[in-house]
Amino acid sequence: MAESSGVTAAASAAAETEPTQPFLRACRGLPADRTPVWLLRQAGRYLPEYRALRERHSLLELIRTPELATEVTLMPVNEFGLDAAIVFSDILPPLVGMGLDLDFVKGDGPQIGSPIASTRDVDLLGTPPAEETMSGTLEAIRLVRAELEPRGVPVIGFAGAPFTLASYAIEGGTSKDFTRTKAFMLSEPAAWKRLLTKLATVQADYLLAQARAGAQALQVFDSWAGRALGREDYLRYVAPHNRELFAAVARAGVPVINFSLGVSAYLAEAAACGGDVVGLDWQLPLDEAWRRVGFERPVQGNLDPASLLAPWRELRARIDDVLDRADGRPGHVFNVGHGLVPQTPVDNVRRLVEHVHERTSA
Ligand code: CP3
Repeated sequence: MAESSGVTAAASAAAETEPTQPFLRACRGLPADRTPVWLLRQAGRYLPEYRALRERHSLLELIRTPELATEVTLMPVNEFGLDAAIVFSDILPPLVGMGLDLDFVKGDGPQIGSPIASTRDVDLLGTPPAEETMSGTLEAIRLVRAELEPRGVPVIGFAGAPFTLASYAIEGGTSKDFTRTKAFMLSEPAAWKRLLTKLATVQADYLLAQARAGAQALQVFDSWAGRALGREDYLRYVAPHNRELFAAVARAGVPVINFSLGVSAYLAEAAACGGDVVGLDWQLPLDEAWRRVGFERPVQGNLDPASLLAPWRELRARIDDVLDRADGRPGHVFNVGHGLVPQTPVDNVRRLVEHVHERTSA
């Protein structure tokens, strides 16, 4: 009798700690009853409802108003039956709390008003708590969680990695060659270290706050380090700060996805910086990238988002290729290898989600 109640207690403890949602199961390397799918930039300009809302509100208004951010977050989830929602925000608003000016200019993308140009500018940056500076997004996470909890759809929070944010803070916008960023990094190595340390501190605090607000997974976007730097510079100027960020966020108690773009030349090293799940871009075939990361580690990816611009037959073949290469191993989250583009036909998103679910359902 004592023995059987022990077994029951152990089983119910396991039931408490083992998630049931396919996305959260895959993030822990557990088998799931279908391959979960969500898509980078799933809430965005390819959606007519989003474009309609954007005619009335600026991007920053959508991000800072919890009810509007919630509405946008839910649009693709309600429309396509995705397995996770990513809170609608951007990686750049946390820079405002540190003292930088941010605007999104139609056609030109993000602009930082007075970019960092000196070591003094680095020392003037603040590191205020996210609860004060990002309260709109934290509230949106609470609202989305309340809405989606009964439907079993988890909410993902996110932040930018230190190098990617430093590149915006120094260049003043998106860069092609990262000249100013690299000049600063190489000329002022001590200030560079202080800058990336401040950015890692602020993003770690922000990610932990998102988990406390209800985010059930967290994704770190390092969009540009891999494009800007060779392996040795990455290891010297970026990896220590990414390690610091992932180590701090490991305390959140939710899975963390390390999505570092363009790092095919040093994928294992980028993955070794931390995170539970490795987000893969579309440059390597999924099986080869997964082998480099190690099959014991869950991965997310990695369809080229341009595939969604192709006719269905071609798109389906490319989805099947990703699934064939994943080979039914537990620990695969289906996703695109970079954000959906505004020209993406809505019907292709719908068919993609249906196809992944149909093909992989147990
Ligand atoms: O649905 C989602 O995926 C969540 C929302 C989200 C946005 N930005 C909204 C957004 C996420 C996860 C981001 C991350 C982000 N933002 C990254 C990392 C991912 C990546 O793509 O590499 C980066 C580098 C940024 C910075 C940024 N924001 C740029 C370069 C741009 C302009 C280019 C573009 O795509 O328009 C933005 C604007 C932005 N962020 C839009 C959206 C939906 C476009 C919005 C609009 O004008 O309505």
